[in-house]
Parts: sequence; C-alpha cells; structure tokens
Amino acid sequence: MASRYHEVYAAWKADPEGFWAEAARAIDWVKPWDKVFDPATGVYGRWFVGAECNTCFNALDRHVAGGRADQVALIHDSAITGTIRKFTYAEVKREVVALASVLKNQGVGKGDRVIIYMPMVPEAAFAMLACARLGAVHSVVFGGFAARELATRIDDAAPKVIVSASCGLEPGRVVAYKPLLDGAIEMARHKPRRCIILQREQQRCELIEGRDLDYADQVARERAAGANVDCVPVAATDPLYVLYTSGTTGQPKGVVRDNGGHMVALKWTMQNEFGVEPGEVFWAASDVGWVVGHSYIVYAPLLHGCTTVLFEGKPVGTPDAGTYWRVIAEHGVAALFTAPTAFRAIKGQDPQGALVSKYDLSGFRTLFLAGERADPPTLEWAEDKLKVPVIDHWWQTETGHPITQNPVGLGMLPVKYGSPGVPMPGFDVRVLDDAGHPVPTGTLGNVVLKLPLPPGCLPTLWNADQRFRDAYLAEFPGHYKTADAGLVDEDGYLFIMARTDDIINVAGHRLSTGGMEEVLAEHADVAECAVIGMADAMKGQVPCGFVVLNAGVARDPAEIEREIVALVRERIGAVAALRLVLVIKRLPKTRSGKILRATMQKIADSEPWTMPATIDDPAILDEIAAALASRGVGRAQA
Ligand code: COA
Ligand code: AMP
Repeated sequence: MASRYHEVYAAWKADPEGFWAEAARAIDWVKPWDKVFDPATGVYGRWFVGAECNTCFNALDRHVAGGRADQVALIHDSAITGTIRKFTYAEVKREVVALASVLKNQGVGKGDRVIIYMPMVPEAAFAMLACARLGAVHSVVFGGFAARELATRIDDAAPKVIVSASCGLEPGRVVAYKPLLDGAIEMARHKPRRCIILQREQQRCELIEGRDLDYADQVARERAAGANVDCVPVAATDPLYVLYTSGTTGQPKGVVRDNGGHMVALKWTMQNEFGVEPGEVFWAASDVGWVVGHSYIVYAPLLHGCTTVLFEGKPVGTPDAGTYWRVIAEHGVAALFTAPTAFRAIKGQDPQGALVSKYDLSGFRTLFLAGERADPPTLEWAEDKLKVPVIDHWWQTETGHPITQNPVGLGMLPVKYGSPGVPMPGFDVRVLDDAGHPVPTGTLGNVVLKLPLPPGCLPTLWNADQRFRDAYLAEFPGHYKTADAGLVDEDGYLFIMARTDDIINVAGHRLSTGGMEEVLAEHADVAECAVIGMADAMKGQVPCGFVVLNAGVARDPAEIEREIVALVRERIGAVAALRLVLVIKRLPKTRSGKILRATMQKIADSEPWTMPATIDDPAILDEIAAALASRGVGRAQA
C-alpha cells in the first residue's frame, strides 16, 4: 500500500486548524470550541478554546454506552505474582465511579490535585481515570523514586489526597511503599488531607489513624451504597494531569497536559500512527509513572476503544526472556510498544530467540520502540526474530505523543535504520545552529519545533510559565527547544544523536545528571563533583560520578564512594542506577572553570578524545582515564 503520509502531512501544513478540527470530531464534547486555536491565550496559544469535555467520559462511559460494555478494557498481567485480572469497560467504569466517589467524599473536586504513587496495579489506572472523572488533576509519581523525590512533587503539586499502595513488587524483592510515602509527607511542607492506601497481600502496612484510608474498604462501601458520580465537564484547556520529568536541576519540571487537545491528539495517533483498530489489544510495556504509561497504557488505548495491557514484570527474569512473547500470545496483542533496552535485555539472555518459537505470535503485527535511540543491531534482531515491522519513533514527556514516527496506519514508509522516522502532522521539525540559523540538510544541529506545538503537547509547566519560557522557548525564538541534537536527511528523516543538556537515558528512564550532582554535593566530604552518562550495553547509558574530597579528608576513598552510591539510591531512588563513583584529585576544567564532562564521557566510552586546548590541567584527564581503567571502564588516550 502506498503511504498517505506525504498527502496527510501536507494537508495539516496547509490548514492546521482545519486538520485538528476534523480530528476532534472523533471525540465527544460537552460544548464545542469557540476557537480551534487561539494564539492570544496561554504562553504560545491554546487549542480548543471555549470547549468543554471530560476525558473519563471519552475513555469509558462513551464505550460502555456505545456497545463495548462487555469488551475487556484492561488486562493486568503480573509476571511477578503469576496472576492475570481482566476488567471489561463496564467493570472499569464501575471501579472508577466508586473511587471517584471516595475521592469526592474527601473533598476532591475540579482543579484539585491528587498524587498517585503506585506500582503497576489496575488501581493506578483507576485512580487516574477517577481524577479525570472529577475534573481533578492527577500527578503520578513513578514508584522507583525515593521519598525525597516524592516530597518535592508533593510540595509543587500540593495534593489534597494521595493514592498509594502498601508495596510494589520487583523481581525477588518487595518494595515497601508506605515508609517512602510517610517519609515524603514528613519531609514535605505541604501535607495532604488524606492518603488512600491499597493493601497488597504481599506486604500489608500500618495505616495512620485519621489520615489514611483503606482503598478496598472505601471503594466497597461506595459500591454497596450505589454511589454514582457523573463526569464533571471541564474546559478543554483545563489540566488533566501534571507529570514531573527531569530537568536541568534537581527541581523536576511539572509538565502540564490539558484535556481537550490531549484526547484529540492521542486518538488520532492510535489509528494513523500506530495502525491499531478499536477492539484490538494494545500493549505498552512501560510504567504508569512515565509518559508512555500515561499516553499508551491508559489514555490512548481506552480513548480508542482498545484493550490495554498493564504488565507488572520485566522483559527478563520474570520468569525468563520469553515473557513478552507469552503475554503477546496469551492476550492476542496486535501491537507492542516498549523501549529498546527491553529488547537488549531479551537479546542478551536469548540471543538466538529460541523462546520466540514457543509461542503463537500470528496475531502480532507491529513492534514500536521509543524512549531512547533504537540501535540498529537491536532493531534488526527484533525484526529477524519476530518477523514484523519494528518502528522507532521519537518523542518526549513534554510532547505526550510521537514527534517523528513511521506512520503505520497511513501506510509505512521505507525504514531507515537509526532514524526514528519523519515528522508527524502537527510537528514542524527544524534543525538550527547555536545562533538560531537553519543548517544545511544532513548537518547536525539543535532540533527544534516551530511554534505553535500541536494539541496534546504541554501548554506550560505547572505554576511556572516563566520557567517554561526560559527552559524551552527563549533560546530559539518562535521555536520549542527539544534539547536533542540531530539532523534531517535529504528524504526528511530525522536522526537523533544526543541530548544538548544534562539528561541521560538509563534503561529508557530519563534522569538528570545535574540532579544527581546535587545529591553527591550533599555528602559532607565532597568538595566538588561531576556526573556523566556512560554507555552501557543493556541500559543504553548509566551514570558515573566523580568526586573531589574536601581538603584534609583522610578517610578511605572506597568507603566514601560506597556512601555516595547509597546516598543517591536513598535520595533519588534505585532507578537512578548509579553504581560507580570515583574519588579523584581534581575535576578537569577549562581555564574559565567549566567542567569538561563531554571529554570525561568520551574517555569512559572508549571513544577517541583530544586534549581540549582550553584545559587548565592536562594531567588530570590521564588520571581519570587511569582511574576508570582500574575499574574496567574506558581506556587511556590512544
Ligand atoms: N519501584 C521500585 N523500584 C523500582 C521500580 C519501581 N517501580 N522500577 C525499577 N526499580 C528498581 C529496580 O528494582 C532496580 O533496583 P536494583 O538496583 O535493586 O536492582 C533499579 O530500580 C533499576 O531498575 P531498572 O533500571 O529498571 O533496571 P533493571 O535491571 O531492574 O531492569 C530493564 C532493566 C531493561 C529490564 C528494565 O528497565 C526494563 O524493562 N526497561 C524497559 C521498559 C521501560 O520501563 N521503559 C521505560 C520508558 S518506555
Ligand atoms: P522522555 O521525556 O522520558 O520520553 O525522554 C525523552 C528523550 O528521550 C528525548 O528527548 C530523547 O533524548 C530520548 N528519546 C526518546 N525517544 C527516542 C528515540 N526514538 N530515539 C532517540 N532518542 C529518543
């Protein structure tokens, strides 16, 4: 089939407002918009201004009323506990209505914030949808983050209620969530009125009298009372959620998502970009704590009338590298979306793909990879073993859906290995030099998006319009800065090469080295520090810390290194995956005092490096190379 991509993209470019108005017909609105796009509202303009809608209504009620009541909406497959639970659209609606009633009883209404700090259980999705039903704003915090990260988000979002669970389950280990939650509330200046705690049988927890409520008891009571909570109409421009993502400091950025534009954009992507039909099974193997989980575990599949899979487990070790194939076969998954790191993990344990042949994957059509660069060897391995197209696509927490993609639903374009595809309608992708001038085709530069951003992208940061302008819009006026560096080739395919800021990508998780440096600097013996991301065969990148000790510290450096590793785990969480810290004498700096992180990274990655002309003390780089080599990392200068 010839691809309709060029025609559709051109149609969007010729009439963006007409294009999105047409796409918006797939959504049920309480009140239509006055303006499809109003450049005078918000920081750079707002979509569907004047419209009213409800996201939960479009995700659930509409399908229940429209013939999907008995279709399975959500499958919870826990490879850790070996259990599978299925919920039809009618059942999910019932759960969500009951929980919405519980939240309402606690005073949660339109515009109020609710933090959701939960493992991969169906109740996490129910909580998101219950907030949406009430017009409340949810903020899901990834379970792998520690108490202090949670506390920062509590203070920024100021939630009335927190929904959490007694524990999460990682392979071979139960992660007690309650002490982390209690610790975070203790640390935070803002105190939630109530916590609603899901008790999991693997490890129950103590509830604090007067503050904590038992999730199951509360929901059962509302259900027995026949509670009914209607969907509250909200403005299309009202926030649906705030999702915190790593920024250039330890203070995360609260990415705001609206209701109207978000629904329009996500619904459009399911058919046209992911090529999935309503009624089919879509599986995003991510976590509800990340944007992929928000968009493609919860909202997009449900808005589209699909069955979504919420998977608790890992690609390997739960119990083996065939788990993904088991889930695909058992639930009839048509499309899987995950991060390349998952496939590197599988390939590492089952290089021949022997486990693939044990399962019937005949209904499986497409594999989508995002979150980090899909390295061609991994992509080719997946193509070879699964015999389906493997689609790399590129986007960010901020955009909420793919910026570039190979739009399967419009008819596939030829695949170019190493490229996450071509710009999707809504995105005018440009590559600029540091002075803001367009670079010639094929030249590396700053990847930016011409404003306005399309529906579904962040309109601003939570309570921080100026930070939004400063961080994203100021450097290249008229454009949104993606902070990715890349190039566009002669066929319009984008190639993403690196981040231009301090973000590193660890097992598909976005982390800030600046945030880690702030933790290293907290250690009493540390005078100065630097954290770099170094290449890792499975995780893509892992952090590596360098510290210079205060004068006069005579302690064993190895002990200090261990303390710092533990400190990062305690402050940020296990997900930071910082395992290597080196005590060094000095940090390599330019004469103006800038730390030469890029050169340190090259050394750690065994890439050729040259001595920077502006270096203050050339000997220190050789010392760093030797220190890394002593830990089996990198090599000395060739
Ligand atoms: N709650 C508590 N702890 C968590 C957690 C959670 N939700 N998620 C991860 N952790 C912990 C892990 O247990 C691990 O702890 P450890 O240091 O004690 O072993 C640590 O955080 C690092 O986790 P992770 O980066 O996931 O590494 P891993 O070795 O456990 O697994 C992969 C590596 C590649 C298998 C896994 O990251 C994966 O499946 N990634 C692909 C899918 C994905 O999540 N993508 C995200 C965006 S699309
Ligand atoms: P996140 O906000 O966690 O989704 O991370 C977004 C960042 O991950 C992007 O800015 C890129 O740096 C990186 N990224 C995501 N998808 C891809 C991809 N397909 N190819 C290369 N980098 C990617």
